[in-house]
Amino acid sequence: MRLWVLALCIVSTAALAAGPDGSNIFMHGNANGALPCAACHGVQAQGNPGIGAPRLAGMPATAIETYLALFANGQGGNATMQFIAQALSPAETKAVAAYLASLPIATPPASPTNSPGTD
Ligand code: HEC
Repeated sequence: MRLWVLALCIVSTAALAAGPDGSNIFMHGNANGALPCAACHGVQAQGNPGIGAPRLAGMPATAIETYLALFANGQGGNATMQFIAQALSPAETKAVAAYLASLPIATPPASPTNSPGTD
């Protein structure tokens, strides 16, 4: 009996440790309708000034989680971000925030096509 309880503990710890995959959510969204972050924020999360999507790479995880919590609550952000924030579970929000925080800050190449308002 005691062994059985121990085994159960080990299994559930492993499941927790695995959790949702932040990079997968970033590239592919989730089954709940969250769109891939990369589509708007860029594949390196470098941001896309053309559509007003801010850089997310290297942003502190707590800041990202705070933004998403506010958006999910209808406070700030646009309608799409609000929908996406609501479509992420708390565990998925944490996972994608941790992934984004871990990314190096990529500077978009300085070229006229990258300037806001030229496209
Ligand atoms: C359809 C395009 C689109 C997709 C997909 C998208 N975003 Fe956004 N996101 C935006 C735009 C545009 C803004 C700016 C909203 C505003 O300020 O009103 C934004 C803002 C944010 C912000 C606030 C950043 C800041 O500095 O203000 C965070 C955090 C964020 N998005 C995270 C995510 C995450 C995580 C995902 C994927 C799960 C995602 N976004 C998917 C377009 C998108």
